[in-house]
Amino acid sequence: MKSQDQLIRFINIPKIDDDCYLCFAQNPDHVPFMIKRVYYILKSQPNLSRGAHAHHKTQQILFCIQGSIKMVLDNGKKREEVILDKPETGVLLDKMIWHEMHDFQKDTILLVLASKRYENKDYIRDYEQFLVIANGKNK
Ligand code: TYD
Repeated sequence: MKSQDQLIRFINIPKIDDDCYLCFAQNPDHVPFMIKRVYYILKSQPNLSRGAHAHHKTQQILFCIQGSIKMVLDNGKKREEVILDKPETGVLLDKMIWHEMHDFQKDTILLVLASKRYENKDYIRDYEQFLVIANGKNK
């Protein structure tokens, strides 16, 4: 199986563990794109759901640096779930992957590295439209 065919691709970064944890990620060692944007999600209510979209071009890496979430990844052909709950283990979200984040634990913090600046037109928010584009491109 080619690595591009794998839906869930973990990005493991160093975790220095002395009197605290210190994790770091840098291009190109851990991040396979130039980081153009960083955002984080915090102060969530328990059981929150977010996401439910795909990106035409943006690639992202998502780290759950505190708490835990369940992520759903879907490439239009298959759908897989993964629990993210370790600050040193991120998930690479390639372009054209439908993703949903569910079951936020209290005080969860998600840190996201993105390959592009924010652009609303990069989003596909309609799942049926996503399927048409994803399966059209994969033919
Ligand atoms: P959105 O990506 O839809 O969040 P989620 O995937 O968690 O549902 O973004 C929510 C709002 O924040 C939306 O109005 C756009 C804005 N936003 C930015 O302006 N810049 C950003 O980098 C991000 C991620 C969101």
